[in-house]
Amino acid sequence: MLVKQNSTFDKVALEQKVKHMYKNVALEPHQLYHFEMGRSLAVKLGYPTEMLDTIPAGAVDSFAGVGYHFGLANIKPGNRVLDLGSGSGMDLFIAAQLTGPSGSVVGIDMTDEQLNKAKYLAALNGYSNITLVKGYIEELPFGDGEFDVVISNGVINLSPDKSSLFSEVSRVLKTGGRLAVSDIVTELLLPDSITCNTSLWAACIGGAMQQDEFFNSMENSGLKKFQVVHNVQYEFISKSAQGASRQYGVKSFSVCGDKI
Ligand SMILES: C[S@@+](CC[C@H](N)C(=O)[O-])C[C@H]1O[C@@H](n2cnc3c(N)ncnc32)[C@H](O)[C@@H]1O
Repeated sequence: MLVKQNSTFDKVALEQKVKHMYKNVALEPHQLYHFEMGRSLAVKLGYPTEMLDTIPAGAVDSFAGVGYHFGLANIKPGNRVLDLGSGSGMDLFIAAQLTGPSGSVVGIDMTDEQLNKAKYLAALNGYSNITLVKGYIEELPFGDGEFDVVISNGVINLSPDKSSLFSEVSRVLKTGGRLAVSDIVTELLLPDSITCNTSLWAACIGGAMQQDEFFNSMENSGLKKFQVVHNVQYEFISKSAQGASRQYGVKSFSVCGDKI
């Protein structure tokens, strides 16, 4: 489907497409998608297998991230952590183990099936320091300076309002707190034929920012960029996604920045 960006109608169409895609990711993780998923992807991206072995397998099955950013996030015992677009919760469970019982982890996501799966797995496995909240990452329902660390994996590219998103992240972080994300960015500006294609958007390509624009948005919202890792292991699967990736330098990276 082709839509024009930035109108109310288009945002609604895009949200429906994204919710439909990630509902399936939660409920049917073994189907074929535009992107790789699950444990084999996580291992390829650098998640230690011993870390994956200690968290709920159902969350690992529905993992649809694009990089490993825990090396950058520097989560410490006692931290309060927010995961933007937490999906079925794989990163939430890892973060909860890193904060320990004296810390806490909050996941926010707009897709019911993802939230419900993460909630169910957290309750079933006794993770009492995880809270799941339904909401939009562009309008965070949290107070100023509430979090030590904000993480996000494969989500920022899906947002139709990235400038609100970055300013919200900066608002909810403590001074000296850290944003650590893995996401999809591009080397070249994407043409309308890609950015207006909701299927490619939902597959994490159509909404990808140019890398420099991503850094500028971080810095403009008070997040000082200081470390970047290129996730060269990350590959797209479908032919249309691979074509766009080759032609416009669509790629995965992980970056962290501190709130100054
Ligand atoms: C690519 S998945 C990644 C999920 C998870 N981070 C992981 O690594 O498996 C993207 C997730 O972000 C959520 N999402 C996308 N746009 C969102 C928005 N604007 N507000 C809240 N959640 C959003 C989707 O529902 C989906 O669960």
